[in-house]
Amino acid sequence: MTTARLTLDARFPIGAVRRRLFGGFVEHLGRHVYDGIYEPGHPEADEQGFRRDVLELVRELGVSMIRYPGGNFVSGFRWEDSVGPRDERPRRLDLAWHSTETNEVGLHEFSDWLDKAGSELMLAVNLGTRGTLEAIDLLEYSNLPAGTALSQRRIDNGREAPFDVRVWCLGNEMDGPWQLGHRSAEDYGKLAAQTAKGMRQLDPSIELVVCGSSGAQMPTFGEWERVVLTHTYDDVDMISCHAYYQEHDGDIDSFLASSVDTDRFIEAVVATADHVGAVRGSAKKIDISFDEWNVWYIDRVASEKPTALDDWPVAPRLLEDVYSAVDAVVFGSLMISLIAHANRVASASLAQLVNVIAPIMTEPGGPAWRQTTFFPFSITSRLARGEALRVQVEAPTVDTAKHGTVPTVDAVATHDAETGEAAVFLVHRGRDEPVEVTIDVSGLGEVELVETHLLHDDDPYASNTLEDRERVGTSPLEDARIADGILHVTLPPIAWAALALRRTV
Ligand code: AHR
Repeated sequence: MTTARLTLDARFPIGAVRRRLFGGFVEHLGRHVYDGIYEPGHPEADEQGFRRDVLELVRELGVSMIRYPGGNFVSGFRWEDSVGPRDERPRRLDLAWHSTETNEVGLHEFSDWLDKAGSELMLAVNLGTRGTLEAIDLLEYSNLPAGTALSQRRIDNGREAPFDVRVWCLGNEMDGPWQLGHRSAEDYGKLAAQTAKGMRQLDPSIELVVCGSSGAQMPTFGEWERVVLTHTYDDVDMISCHAYYQEHDGDIDSFLASSVDTDRFIEAVVATADHVGAVRGSAKKIDISFDEWNVWYIDRVASEKPTALDDWPVAPRLLEDVYSAVDAVVFGSLMISLIAHANRVASASLAQLVNVIAPIMTEPGGPAWRQTTFFPFSITSRLARGEALRVQVEAPTVDTAKHGTVPTVDAVATHDAETGEAAVFLVHRGRDEPVEVTIDVSGLGEVELVETHLLHDDDPYASNTLEDRERVGTSPLEDARIADGILHVTLPPIAWAALALRRTV
């Protein structure tokens, strides 16, 4: 048994935990939309063809804002294809995923689905193969109440009230050579600034996200952010971060320490943004939209797309990763990192939601179920309220090949001063023995334990599958107790946990 000592105090807040931190991402990719959220022939389908069982799980997951419709998909997308009478919508090649897009589900249908899911729409415009005018057109179609050709077209298409989309992404991963219309930081920065200015001329109240690097491992990382922000600083509110992690060659220690990389990534982007602000003498701060994050086994066969000239399937099985208990532990630690940077991470989108590197899986004509990663997301999204609190951690360390020497325990807390509710989120990266954790919570006043959740499996590679849909879940932490302002809890190796507390006096 090892030991760890944690201290937190309501007087040391990091920043408000904004609901948009618990966002998601739906891309037209594989079986995400078709045979995922939408399956008209399914026994659970509603009058619009949306699966009720999937909607119920999405609501349970607690996803605030959902980024749409891509991803790489958006860089070849003509938004006009996806509105208007369905039987007149064209079938198109989706070059990003070598698939056929039928456009059966488009902006109007997706917005209806979001209303049912209780989530907000975040739209991405195509700055890969299209430009400023098409982006402004989409904004006019979406947000202008009435009185022009495009707003009238929306009304004629059945939607009287504007969609009133608040947050817009200026393209997707424009630094990536795989991206249709990929360009240099200079060229993208100019295009993004021009597009942002135009969109704001139409609707000054929208929030804009400019593309950061598609990962901290990109050769242009850092310089890309500096150049792009130099062009766009006054015109945007956020810069995007994307990060995916996987276990490489059995190096589980590095994988378990992935969130250390997320911490460094966020801090590097914040430093770069603040540098650009300082050079400009600007008091404005650019926040982060961490709009793609997850565990993704990108090298596995599940992520291979078709290549043949005559093979452009509709809704192929792509990126259908099956997540294990250890994946969920890492996933939970990524959420800890996002909350621990709540002062600058204004918004985040789990990539993705259904079937495609997703917490929710479905089978056509069959059931829908929760992957292991579902649990840390739904629990954190439900319990994290108020302000994020810094947690001081004293814990043993582990040497990792990729991230250096890291503590075996990481944690963050949240506290809602109004309701007196608090929560502590913990990860134990140690692999060999349990850790006895003591958490000094006296800085929260008199509190009691309300609920506890442990995600751990004696087989770290256990997962939930079609055949065994509830193999991995969470269980209460039976030994958790508070005595004299100290919370005591024991975590097994490779574990994620959440503890909810409430003020008693
Ligand atoms: O989420 C899958 C893909 O990952 C997205 O389409 C792209 O933006 C990223 O590279």
